[in-house]
Amino acid sequence: MRERLENIRTEALARIAAAESEDELREIRTGLFGKKGAITQATKMLGRLPAADRPQAGGLVNETRALLERAWEDKNSALGAEALAARLRRETIDVTLPGTVLPAGRQHPLNMVIADIEDIFLGLGFSIAEGPEIETDYYNFEALNLPPDHPARDMQDSFYITEELLLRSQTSPVQIRAMEKMCPRLPVKIIAPGKVYRNDDDATHSPMFHQVEGLLVDKGVRMADLKGVLLCFIREMFGPEREIRMRPSFFPFTEPSAEIDVSCMFCGGDGCRLCKGTGWIEILGSGMVHPRVLTMGGYDANTVTGFAFGVGVERVAMLKYGIDDMRLLFDNDIRFLRQF
Ligand code: DAH
Repeated sequence: MRERLENIRTEALARIAAAESEDELREIRTGLFGKKGAITQATKMLGRLPAADRPQAGGLVNETRALLERAWEDKNSALGAEALAARLRRETIDVTLPGTVLPAGRQHPLNMVIADIEDIFLGLGFSIAEGPEIETDYYNFEALNLPPDHPARDMQDSFYITEELLLRSQTSPVQIRAMEKMCPRLPVKIIAPGKVYRNDDDATHSPMFHQVEGLLVDKGVRMADLKGVLLCFIREMFGPEREIRMRPSFFPFTEPSAEIDVSCMFCGGDGCRLCKGTGWIEILGSGMVHPRVLTMGGYDANTVTGFAFGVGVERVAMLKYGIDDMRLLFDNDIRFLRQF
């Protein structure tokens, strides 16, 4: 037994020392410790020895196994280190070369304007409400005091999906949804930004565009509150020198209704090409919430009043950034979008 183990040891040590690759080493390992490996066989043979000889022989086997395992591990790490060193010698990375520059995206001017509007009204204590873009005829028109066949529906020539469902033509339906949600609590004080859709397409109209709706319902809300809030909004948006004026107008969901003009931000009100010489630029529609609309929202029109307004985001963006064609906002031309 002793002799046999000595032979195994001498031969194995020589082979381990001579091994040149990790593959070769793996083979040697199987030859020693695998199922039919020399050390495994020697261990099995122990059982056939007379009981008196076993302890000594067993000690010898263990000693040999430990010695060979250590020799194998040492060689294995040495070969691994060598392989790594060789790879590092081959690989030449020039860390001073410029890296690959990934183009960074940025916010779309329309989203910048929406974020600005939200900031201003959040600062005035309004919350942000949302409504669906696929809306029912009821919310988009009827609850807003536009019964079927009302001529004001024509101005919002709309995309119908069924007779009852359409792509909303204005954000005003969110007024009704917000009131239904809040009723009977007061105040209802929301803005509702979002996409709206109309059958329009030219340099100043797009079939999809954005509006921000505003609604304040409470006890004792007056037209002066509407004017104060809108003046604050306009000055935050276009600068502290801006003035506003209210012109009588008509919307079915407000009474009275007022169109809001802002003093021209291009000429300061003297009159120029952009304000067509008037010094004023039309910016949004507004008014005192019609009693019928308050009732549709669930409120008692005898005890509460409210104001509402609707502003076109594209129009604000065009005025703020001096953009003269609305289509530029939707072309996705990176040269245009990079300017903001
Ligand atoms: N919904 C109107 C439109 O799209 C805009 C509007 C006008 C909204 C007056 C209002 C309002 O809330 O009071 O033309």
